[in-house]
Amino acid sequence: MDELGSRALCRWDELADPATRGFILASELGGYEIFIVRSGEQIFAYRNHCPHTGAPLDWQPDQFLDVDKMFIQCAFHGALFRIEDGYCVRGPCTGQSLESVPVRLENGLVVLGDPV
Ligand code: FES
Repeated sequence: MDELGSRALCRWDELADPATRGFILASELGGYEIFIVRSGEQIFAYRNHCPHTGAPLDWQPDQFLDVDKMFIQCAFHGALFRIEDGYCVRGPCTGQSLESVPVRLENGLVVLGDPV
């Protein structure tokens, strides 16, 4: 994962479709892991924290999707989450959701934060 201190995470055009990528954001508590998901022309971001146990979701660095690339999948017990809203549709935390992180596209960059 990349260690980032700024609000720009990466360039949009370097992301495949679909693509996921993890980041560690600097924080007063030492680091805050998030990941982004490109799906078509949309971008989503979530905290890398499974609602089941709090474990990170990725099974390899930057790998957050299931084999069919239709859902976000937790590496620990296989929970499946919708890409568009992080809602768990199958697994031990069904009905719970990933914690979303505001993210947007700006001048070809994926940027943290709400639209300005
Ligand atoms: S830790 Fe994610 S499904 Fe159990």
